[in-house]
Amino acid sequence: MDFDIKNIDLAPGGRHRIEWAEQEMPVLRGIQQQFTSDRPFAGLRISACMHVTTETANLMVSLQAGGADVVLSASNPLSTQDDVAASLVSHYEIPVYAIKGEDNETYFKHLNAALDHNPHIVMDDGADLVSTIHKSRRNLIDNMIGGTEETTTGIIRLRAMAADGALQFPMMAVNDALTKHMFDNRYGTGQSTIDGIVRATNVLVAGKNVVVAGYGWCSRGIAMRARGLGGNVIVTEIDPLKALEAVMDGYRVMPMMEAAAIGDIFVSATGDIHVFDEHHFMAMKDGALLSNSGHFDVEINKPALEKLSTNGPKRVRPFVEQYTMKHNGHRLNLLGEGRLINLAAAEGHPASVMDMSFAGQAMAAKYLIDNKDKLENRVYTIPQEVDQEIARIKLDAMGIYIDTLTAEQVAYLNSWEEGT
Ligand code: ADE
Repeated sequence: MDFDIKNIDLAPGGRHRIEWAEQEMPVLRGIQQQFTSDRPFAGLRISACMHVTTETANLMVSLQAGGADVVLSASNPLSTQDDVAASLVSHYEIPVYAIKGEDNETYFKHLNAALDHNPHIVMDDGADLVSTIHKSRRNLIDNMIGGTEETTTGIIRLRAMAADGALQFPMMAVNDALTKHMFDNRYGTGQSTIDGIVRATNVLVAGKNVVVAGYGWCSRGIAMRARGLGGNVIVTEIDPLKALEAVMDGYRVMPMMEAAAIGDIFVSATGDIHVFDEHHFMAMKDGALLSNSGHFDVEINKPALEKLSTNGPKRVRPFVEQYTMKHNGHRLNLLGEGRLINLAAAEGHPASVMDMSFAGQAMAAKYLIDNKDKLENRVYTIPQEVDQEIARIKLDAMGIYIDTLTAEQVAYLNSWEEGT
């Protein structure tokens, strides 16, 4: 079996951690049992480009249980858990192409190795796999049934492709499911981002000015958890509605230029480029921490940081690069090379929340198979029934039961005659 990982000897530790995560993934476990008996992917090849974590391992094993021949490459150069990669290869016979800290060239070499598998289905996190197929591996298109996409960023890219008429197979937007973005993006990113910042720096959040760029689902979670630790949270936005929401949620809202001068900890999760830029760095306080939780490492202008600093970065701790500013001697600390800090310096979202996201992934892949001759080359939202089903199973697993409407209430909701 071909693979490229850091060290196969790490496998035993990886297996323990994969099994540990599995305990917190009851929805995916139920799907895996169903897949084991139904074998919906028998004879099909799936190439996944996702963060190589314990949770992703459980998804890969579930697809394999459904009969799929699966391969996995990393969806970020810094997010791979090397012990998990080793265990997938060694214990589950799943080829993995991923090494934590790989350079960009190796990242794309790995991604192309996953595509050499000649997939029927792709599972993407950020749309690098799909865009590579459309840009340089077009010979794979004929064989494709479709794909699934995990993130907000990836779906924005796919919708742009579909609008251009470029998309050549159907894609399922897993992130659009409510059981994905309301939980993974908010509670998962919220907790794991703070976890990454704290693991990298051991900073005390209480009493610090925490500047959160953006107020989408991820940023809402980050702001909420930073406040929970006693941080004074400042939100910056470009959307008046989201800014208003942040104000009414009790945060200070101001332009980034103002926030730059008073922030202690900066976190971006906007999906856009150069959210922290040259003029902001010029104004920042000595000791400021700069981090990103958006998908790509473009939110912090790293070349500008380099240009403004005396002699480039100094590694002062694992995952902390310190830049000393030429104009005032202030030390700005870049965390996790500006890559997703929750996966670079911590372990990503906890299993309990990935349970729902990956249940969505598994169901989306099955949906592609079940509807293979009906789908067009566009981006599809996960059906509402799937969302409801995932939420119901999750609640059951948590031992939480809810009410159902009485016949009288159903009739009332369906009538238009009743009123004042
Ligand atoms: N994205 C964020 N957290 C993750 C995790 N734990 N596994 C896979 N993808 C993730």
